[in-house]
Amino acid sequence: MIPLDWREGDFARRVVDWQRTHGRHGLPWQSREPYRVWLSEVMLQQTQVSTVLAYYTRFLARFPDVATLAAAPLDDVLAAWSGLGYYRRARFLHACAQAVVERHGGRFPQDPEQLAALPGIGRSTAAAIAAFCFDRRAAILDGNVKRLLARALGFGADLAVASHERELWQAACALLPAEPAEMPAYTQGLMDLGATVCTPRRPTCLVCPLRAGCVALATGRVEQLPVKTRKLQRGRRANAWLWVEHAGRVWLQQRAALGVWAGLWSLPMFDDEDSLLAAAAGVPLRALAPIEHALTHFDWRLAPWHAEPRSADEAEALVARLGGADAGRWIARAALADIALPAPLRKLLVADAATSPAP
Ligand code: ADE
Repeated sequence: MIPLDWREGDFARRVVDWQRTHGRHGLPWQSREPYRVWLSEVMLQQTQVSTVLAYYTRFLARFPDVATLAAAPLDDVLAAWSGLGYYRRARFLHACAQAVVERHGGRFPQDPEQLAALPGIGRSTAAAIAAFCFDRRAAILDGNVKRLLARALGFGADLAVASHERELWQAACALLPAEPAEMPAYTQGLMDLGATVCTPRRPTCLVCPLRAGCVALATGRVEQLPVKTRKLQRGRRANAWLWVEHAGRVWLQQRAALGVWAGLWSLPMFDDEDSLLAAAAGVPLRALAPIEHALTHFDWRLAPWHAEPRSADEAEALVARLGGADAGRWIARAALADIALPAPLRKLLVADAATSPAP
């Protein structure tokens, strides 16, 4: 499975040397502190470095250690996460902090298998924490590293098949440096190469430290690897959003605990614009530009309508028809920053505040 060129530790040597001279340094989560590393790894699972940088420091200032995070209300954690998307991660983060406190006395375990038994920590994230913080010889295999290894090894089997993925895990383990002290640079090196050199399209093989032994490069298959057949079936959805605002307050409803944007605060949502118009009949309405929002499994077209009640009575009558206090709450504009809102809604509400004329 491992081509001859990559035996004898040459692969790891090249990755480690390259990381030390050309890799990324000075990222705020490059630390030996497991809380900081774990938090960054969870944030980086589905979000780019440039976006995470803005949230990471703020999140750490708010929740400086695992005990503070475990003791915080979930709503506060969701609010601090708001904008990073994929909120399941924030729920797991909170559950994981509680498990670290309850099962491990507030200290992250060092063993990758114990780490992987915690909520929201998969095998690759567990290995990253164990390698960065405890010099453990554990292999990471996220999407970027799968691509890099498939190319370097010329691994052309379909990674949608579980047994092929297992084979790549075995290769990832076989390629680890022999010296535990090299694990942090090696692990960061694989991440950096995957993100900046061995990119999905137009990889920069000329500057790659692995080019001399890269099987895909030698056989002209760089663009064909990795092979993964099962494509995500993306759907489409369309909904209408009713934005009721009166006297500096917005009417928001908390979404159900399951499903998209679980537990976040959002505008009342309708299956279509006709149902929205029927619910808001009699109140002046203005259609706003539709928003296209991409989620993992579907593209969502959200058509916002701004309701502009002419009096407090009209506003109260409208929200009573929307279910009243059982279904939602008036939230002052000034308090929106502290509420967990879906990213496109935050953009909508904040963009409006920035462009509305002063009263
Ligand atoms: N992506 C996942 N983990 C990362 C890390 N430690 N540094 C940069 N990008 C990453």
